[in-house]
Amino acid sequence: MNDSTLSYYLSSTLMAFALFFSCQQAYAEITPKPHHIAFSEGQFELSQATEISFNHPDAKPVAEYLAEFLRPPTGYLLPVTKQTRSKGNVITLHLVDSALAEEQYQLAVSAQSIKISARTPTGLFWAVQSLRQLLPAEIESRMPINQASWAVPQVTINDKPRFKYRGMHLDVSRHFFDVEFVKRYIDWLAMHKFNVFQWHLTDDQGWRIAIDAYPKLTEIGATRPHTVMGHTYDYQPLFDQQPVSGFYTQAQIKEVIAYAQARHIEVIPEIDIPGHTSALLAAYPELSCHQQPVKVQPQFGIFEDVLCPREDVFAFLRTVYKEVAELFPSQYIHIGGDEVIKKQWLASPFVKQLMREHQLSTPEQVQSYFIKRVASIVQAQGKTVIGWDEILEGGVAEGAVVMSWRGTQGGIAAAKLGHQVVMSPYQYIYFDAYQSRNLDEPKAIHGLSTLKNVYHYEPQPSHLSPEQQELIIGAQGALWTEYIKTPRHAEYMVFPRLSALAETLWSAKADKSWSEYSQQRLPKLMQRYQKMHINAATSAYNPTISSTIKGEQLQVSMRTDIEGTEIYYTLDGSEPTLTSLRYQQPIIISERTRVRALSFAKPLGQLVGDAQLTLAPHLALGKKISFSYPPAEGSATKLQDGQFAYDQFYSVNDYAIFYDSDLEAVIDLDSSTLVERVEIGYNSGRHRQLHPPTSIKIWGSNDNKNWQPLAHIQQPPGPMSILSFAATRVRYLKVSAINSKQSQDIQIPKLPLYIDEIAVY
Ligand code: ACM
Repeated sequence: MNDSTLSYYLSSTLMAFALFFSCQQAYAEITPKPHHIAFSEGQFELSQATEISFNHPDAKPVAEYLAEFLRPPTGYLLPVTKQTRSKGNVITLHLVDSALAEEQYQLAVSAQSIKISARTPTGLFWAVQSLRQLLPAEIESRMPINQASWAVPQVTINDKPRFKYRGMHLDVSRHFFDVEFVKRYIDWLAMHKFNVFQWHLTDDQGWRIAIDAYPKLTEIGATRPHTVMGHTYDYQPLFDQQPVSGFYTQAQIKEVIAYAQARHIEVIPEIDIPGHTSALLAAYPELSCHQQPVKVQPQFGIFEDVLCPREDVFAFLRTVYKEVAELFPSQYIHIGGDEVIKKQWLASPFVKQLMREHQLSTPEQVQSYFIKRVASIVQAQGKTVIGWDEILEGGVAEGAVVMSWRGTQGGIAAAKLGHQVVMSPYQYIYFDAYQSRNLDEPKAIHGLSTLKNVYHYEPQPSHLSPEQQELIIGAQGALWTEYIKTPRHAEYMVFPRLSALAETLWSAKADKSWSEYSQQRLPKLMQRYQKMHINAATSAYNPTISSTIKGEQLQVSMRTDIEGTEIYYTLDGSEPTLTSLRYQQPIIISERTRVRALSFAKPLGQLVGDAQLTLAPHLALGKKISFSYPPAEGSATKLQDGQFAYDQFYSVNDYAIFYDSDLEAVIDLDSSTLVERVEIGYNSGRHRQLHPPTSIKIWGSNDNKNWQPLAHIQQPPGPMSILSFAATRVRYLKVSAINSKQSQDIQIPKLPLYIDEIAVY
């Protein structure tokens, strides 16, 4: 081998490697991951000479969609033709009569052509969404890009969805989102091959759909004058002075439906009854059992106002659902059915009489009666009813599809009864939950559903029979908007969790791999989202700090969900930088320390996250504690774990919780110990405000019988109390904190008392 052959050999080897890696990267670019994909060498170059052709009138709208999508960044006005004019550089969209499944598509890219075939226009449309992701991320720009090469790697794809129902929900009642935003939302769904958009149009905080027969629904029900500013369950909530108002005209709804249809997405309207109807009842209070004035709710949560199961109410609903059924071409109408408080029914002489007449012995049976009546109204319109899993209570209506949100149990029960099920368990795919525990997360409703958690959600429980599993037709992510006021915030909550759910719904189960998704596809997607000007959360890269008790010290660990992410930390509360300590292994803390960590997310080239945790080794760390009234299950160890809760967002898991009682506890320090101070935390963490106890008392003892008062405080100020006293030798400490049990909110007449730590010094 001479020098030139060697260099030729080396360069061709390098090229092969480069190609291999570029193909590998291209392979990683399509999310959700296709079922079969094979790359080969070479590429197709999109240019102004490219022609888009179709073979059937039904394929034409998809061809036109593609031409329109490509136009802004490329500036190309590509011809869309019935028959191919040229032999070279053509994209063909062919509807074929073959054994392909309903939404299946095949896509083959060679140097000369891109051939797309499917049995339905929907299949062609999903192929176009894949092609979009094969193009450079710059294709997402809606402005002309200079000098970009529009290359598509040579590839063959054969792809089809795993589930037939791939849904996303949007709540426009709690906060109103205009038509422009709803269209963008639909575009996001299309890109990720979702095919259902559930539009949550009505709730206690606003009625958002014009109904011709009942104009007051929007004249009165579409506006609330103010909104709770903090969390709705905060101690002493405050209200803003900003009205929230808005609804869609029927013309606008038709416009959105047409937009979604062009993107092969079915729009399912949700008109939520019989609870979550404060806005409806504000407009037509005569439809309640009490017939008193009702207001459009300025707070969130669950409210007592409920529709009365009377004939005039069913007549009203018949008219409403008839207009809705005529407006929406979807096969489905969602009737809600969730979170019904039955108190007003039980207080109503009419309902008592109804229960006697129909032999209904429980309030759940009244709910079932109501839902069945409404189901038959909707079914008479030729539609299929969907309801949240509460519609199972007291007996489910025949033919209803059950949407399981309070976990998966409702869905499992419904499948066992032979009903179709859409899974939407809040623990996994409610995108209004936090994405990490870091301090810089915006306020969310509660709960945590990390990207990894979403990715790992599996809709078909393995213990169900194959027939029952078949009844689980898909899953749906939810975006409830109590605390989401702006499009930017909505983007943050949806992305990138939407892509993780897309992969669950579309890709083959056996192909799912968190490591492959997070290492290969996610970075590419984040780049694409950036080009789309989407405010995607980087939370999956955030560090998590945890600690365990090691004798009198605490061992601190840090981790991220995405392998290879570097963590930098400080122990003095200052903000870490790339020159701070790099986390390698657990560290030991022996005095009060504020640990703070950031991650370096390499694919993003960015430091992200602000994980903080205040750790306080103290004399009672891990010591034996006994309670006069036990705290909520699993929470007893929280008082002496050395962790204060205030530098993360609120999570119930940080506290010992006393639902109906006071805290009265005895801590055994093992031996007589000099103590001079007790710190009690009832701080809420960021974005919440918990109610403080009304008084705190501390006693000491050496025999657990004779108690000496050491300190007490009345009406302690939040969010933490420090009780100091003359240094005293004691073995036992008794601590009491009185639960005020006063609630501002009728829904929770007794607020729980949350205590995060009893630190003894
Ligand atoms: C729901 O989250 N109340 C369905």
